[in-house]
Amino acid sequence: MKIRFVLNGERMEMEVREDQRVLDLLREELELTGTKEGCGEGECGACTILVDGRAVNSCLMLAPELDGREVLTIEGLSRNGELDVIQKALVDAGAVQCGFCTPGFVMSIKALLMKNPHPSRDEIYKALEGNLCRCTGYTKILDAVENLVHKEG
Ligand code: FES
Ligand code: FES
Repeated sequence: MKIRFVLNGERMEMEVREDQRVLDLLREELELTGTKEGCGEGECGACTILVDGRAVNSCLMLAPELDGREVLTIEGLSRNGELDVIQKALVDAGAVQCGFCTPGFVMSIKALLMKNPHPSRDEIYKALEGNLCRCTGYTKILDAVENLVHKEG
């Protein structure tokens, strides 16, 4: 079927299969490989993207559901090859180790800050519950978001 949606600010019109996962559409057809596949079952958050401003696991969403929606992926955040402020905050706090989980965290943090620009540590923790990281022990990730929130005032 044909769908129309906005991807990282650009209007798209594409033929998709009924059973095609959004994750595969992004990675395989559109070559946007910043969105990662970890579990493929909605458990790890590595595949998080924003759909109409909400954090969504793209491994659980089917491509036809994108029709009429606005999608933001990690590629839509950095401008002219520069890191987004969230990415910078994570790097500065030493919250990026292997980096596999990072795009998913960045997108979940983005969704949180769009909704709530001054979250408490508890609110940050809750918003990131669906994202797993095997390397950092989470503290540095929470610190990164707190630092950013305080810096942005
Ligand atoms: S790959 Fe989608 S939640 Fe793990
Ligand atoms: S930095 Fe390796 S899984 Fe998070």
